[in-house]
Amino acid sequence: MTVRLDVRAERERMARAYRPGQHVPDFAYSSDEDALWSRVFATLSAMHQQLSCTQYRLAARYVGLPTGRVPQLSEVSGTLRSLTGFALAPVMGALPGRLFYPPLADGILRSTPDLRPVAEQSFSPDPDVIHELVGHAVMLADPDFADMYRWFGRAAKNATSDEVLTAIAKLFWFTMEVGVVTEKGHPRACGAAILSSVAELESFANVELRDFRIDDVIVSDIDDSVCQPVLFVAESVSRMKDEVKRFLDSSAGA
Ligand SMILES: [Fe+2]
Repeated sequence: MTVRLDVRAERERMARAYRPGQHVPDFAYSSDEDALWSRVFATLSAMHQQLSCTQYRLAARYVGLPTGRVPQLSEVSGTLRSLTGFALAPVMGALPGRLFYPPLADGILRSTPDLRPVAEQSFSPDPDVIHELVGHAVMLADPDFADMYRWFGRAAKNATSDEVLTAIAKLFWFTMEVGVVTEKGHPRACGAAILSSVAELESFANVELRDFRIDDVIVSDIDDSVCQPVLFVAESVSRMKDEVKRFLDSSAGA
């Protein structure tokens, strides 16, 4: 445990010292943490075969996350740059929306290198490197999702009020974090928070699914400390993309 705390403290120090534009440093992980990554990644990858959308699974093949160790943000960032131009930049823990969203406009996802504790291996209420890489980074290897992340960033940059930023954050949550699309009549997950959580994927079959209507989405409550009881399902990724763009171009003032 002492070793884990030392390793974690060093990661935290390095992530806090990082400044935009700097070279992304390599972060150290203990052998126990590499083993945790391996277990969770293997379980998630198996579940994705049945429960994730096709575009996510194809993107995962392009990214090719390693199975036996925690990947470095820098290596995954290099892969994304060649695929969609996105880059990962370290930050410690979760950022408030006003700091998280705007860099997306410039193709930068602020990502924590921290790793969830074993006690939270199936469900981590806080973002960690599994969430960032298995969830967001794989999505960002797909051009349609990468477009949407950029649009969210641009809209947040241009937001003229807290109310507008709140609506943007809710739409981001119910699409890029816990989004669902239909494929051949079945719901398939396409959001980072679902795709990076064994518990979320286990409960996926039992959630209440509602039609994806942005007017409903932006008045819905968010509780990211529990598995989601209600999700909004779009007809397809392209339909979700069209509706997200329409909203962000108009209502959000982008
Ligand atoms: Fe996230």
